[in-house]
Amino acid sequence: MSILEGSAQAFEAWANQWRAPIEARLLQGLSDVDRAVLECSPLHAAMAHGVLNGGKRVRALAALAAGQMCAAPADALLTVAAALEFVHAYSLIHDDLPCMDDDVLRRGLPTVHVAFGEAQALLAGDALQTHAFALLVSDTLLMPAATKIALLQTLSHAIGANGMAGGQAIDVQHVGLELSLEQMQTMHSLKTGALLRASLLMGAQCGAALSLEPLQTYAQQLGLLFQVVDDVLDASQSSHVLGKTAGKDAAANKPTYVRALGLNDARAYVQTLYQNCLSALTPYGVRAQPLADLAAYCANRIH
Ligand code: IPE
Ligand code: IPE
Ligand code: MG
Ligand code: MG
Ligand code: MG
Repeated sequence: MSILEGSAQAFEAWANQWRAPIEARLLQGLSDVDRAVLECSPLHAAMAHGVLNGGKRVRALAALAAGQMCAAPADALLTVAAALEFVHAYSLIHDDLPCMDDDVLRRGLPTVHVAFGEAQALLAGDALQTHAFALLVSDTLLMPAATKIALLQTLSHAIGANGMAGGQAIDVQHVGLELSLEQMQTMHSLKTGALLRASLLMGAQCGAALSLEPLQTYAQQLGLLFQVVDDVLDASQSSHVLGKTAGKDAAANKPTYVRALGLNDARAYVQTLYQNCLSALTPYGVRAQPLADLAAYCANRIH
C-alpha cells in the first residue's frame, strides 16, 4: 500500500459542498431559546455572535470526512458537526476572556465579551457547551442509543480536565514560564488536539465499524499539527489575514512552539507532522483521501 498524497485545493472543493449545510444546521441548532430569555437578555445574540460569524469549520469538516470514510449517514454527521462547532465556539469565547488570553478580535469582529460584556460571554460559552450535549441526545440525531452514549463519552472525555480544559489550564499557568518540548506537546495535544481528535472519532462512530487505530494515530498528529500551525500563524501573519490579533502570543509571553523552536523549526515540525498524518492513513487506502486532503489543508495554512 502506498502513502496517500494530500491536496489542500481538493479539500476546499470537497469542503465547499458542506459549508452551507453546516451553517444551516448551526442556525437550526440555535433556534430553540425560550422567549423570556430572548426578550430579557442578550444571551442568544451573544451565542449567535460566537458561533455564526465565520470560522473555517475544521472540526465539523473533520467529522464529516471521517464519517464519510465509515459510510455514516450525512444527516447524523451534520448534527454531530453542529455539536462540535458549538463546543469549539464556547472554547473560543472563553479563551478570549480577559482572565484567559484577553483578546478583543475574533474572526474579524469584536470578541463576544467586547460586544456583550464578560458575564454574558461567560454564559454564552456555558450555554453553547450544554447545547452541544443536548443536541447529541436529542431525537434529531437519528442514531441508536448506544451510539449516542459513545458520542457523549468521546466528547466529554475530550473537553474536560483530561482534555481541552486541562490543556487550557496548563497554557494559562505557563505564561512567561518554560515548558519542556514534551510538556508543550502534551499541552497542545490537550487544549486543541483533543477536540479535533474527538471530531474525527465521533464522525467514525456514526458509521460502520472500521479499525480505528490508524484514525487515532492520524488524529493525534493532526491535532498537534493544528495548534503548531496556529502558533506559526500568530507569529507570521497580519491581524487582517487572521481575523484575530497577530503577534499576541509573543506579546503575552505564551508557551508556543514558535517560542520553543523558533519560526523555521516550528514550520519544519508542521511538515513532519503532516507526513505522519499521511503515513497513518495508509491502511485505509483511497477511502481516506478526504482525510489526507484535510491534513494538507491544515498544514498549508502556513504558506
Ligand atoms: C482557533 O481555531 C483556536 C485553536 C484551537 C487553535 P480555528 O483556527 O479552527 O478557528 P476558527 O473556528 O476557524 O475561527
Ligand atoms: C486556543 O488556543 C485553544 C482553545 C480555544 C481550546 P489559542 O489561544 O492559541 O487560540 P487563538 O490563537 O486565540 O485562536
Ligand atoms: Mg489560548
Ligand atoms: Mg487565544
Ligand atoms: Mg493561537
